[in-house]
Amino acid sequence: MKLASRLDHIEPFYVMECAKAAAELARSPACAGSPMVFLNIGEPDFTAPPRVQDAAERAMRAGRTQYTDATGLLSLRERIARWYGTRFGLDVAPQRIVVTAGASAALQLACLALVNRGDEVLLPDPSYPCNRHFVSAADGTPVLIPASPEERFQLSAAKVEETWSARTRGVLLASPSNPTGTSIDPVEMGRIVAAVRARGGFTIVDEIYLGLSYDERFGHSALMHGDDVISINSFSKYFSMTGWRLGWLVLPETMVPAIERLAQNLYICASTIAQHAALACFEPESIAEYERRRGEFQARRDYIVPALNALGLRVPVMPDGAFYAWADCSAHAESSWDFSFDLMRRAHVALTPGRDFGLHGSERFLRLSYASSMEQLHLAVDRLRSALS
Ligand SMILES: Cc1ncc(COP(=O)(O)O)c(C=O)c1O
Repeated sequence: MKLASRLDHIEPFYVMECAKAAAELARSPACAGSPMVFLNIGEPDFTAPPRVQDAAERAMRAGRTQYTDATGLLSLRERIARWYGTRFGLDVAPQRIVVTAGASAALQLACLALVNRGDEVLLPDPSYPCNRHFVSAADGTPVLIPASPEERFQLSAAKVEETWSARTRGVLLASPSNPTGTSIDPVEMGRIVAAVRARGGFTIVDEIYLGLSYDERFGHSALMHGDDVISINSFSKYFSMTGWRLGWLVLPETMVPAIERLAQNLYICASTIAQHAALACFEPESIAEYERRRGEFQARRDYIVPALNALGLRVPVMPDGAFYAWADCSAHAESSWDFSFDLMRRAHVALTPGRDFGLHGSERFLRLSYASSMEQLHLAVDRLRSALS
């Protein structure tokens, strides 16, 4: 059977091969006395807190399981809007919020609504691989712009202006970023939004790690720069609900009917049970728990980054958010791909090689996820130290 040509532009997710190999090795006799430490996984080791679990159970037992509006439960859209107000001091109308099946669906809807065949969209290199593939799936052309440690591995207004061509339609940013955990300075974000606006383009900012911030300078939403900014968000990370498949996007009000039409046709609505459960994320007890977890992530970051530097796995920019460290392994190996397999076999520590995240130097980098307990992080560092000495 002949497959559609857009698939030619959607590369395999190579890190899954690495993750599969780590899982296989973990089950083998080689790991019997020394279980694998998985620091390759991009999801919190925490689950939804008790109030959220109870709310899901209540919704299920009460039979509140029919389809919702394609834009999501109004009560949830209102609750999310209030969160922007209390947490970020932003006035976001609930009508501008569309609840989706994770940030992934939100990114897909935004790209399908805005990108025409051959349109170019600018992204930083390194960046989350699926983001460029959402552009390709909409028949657009992602343009990866190398971003240096001095630029916090992010795009700048100057680079956007320099790279903008007649075919460019917009930018797709992520702040904080996966794989680097670094954010765009709010002043620079304002400049980028202005540069894109002046060219009649769109700014999509993937803010899936919003809330997971460890530096006051950065923990802001790009929505502060205008109602034309499209912000992608999710219950997966700060709210620890990866498998519940729930997210949202904030849009200019005029775009909502188009996104609603796409959502109605593509998947009808996000999970109803997850939406009822997510209302409980904003109860004071749940927020207190999420904030406790944020403190825990920060403590892990403060331990793991100096430890990696001491091992010669240099982290060139201190991550200010999310739960990733992007470490240069060139002092030990030329290819992070081979090096990760080597560490997995010799040290029983699974890390993610940089290959998928970009085309300009990512091969030198490893991504470590500190979404694992402090105990596991200590164990990993001890094992890496022995393997590398
Ligand atoms: C930057 C970024 N965007 C989007 C996603 C997709 O998240 P979701 O689970 O909300 O679909 C991820 C998942 O890891 C991510 O890191």
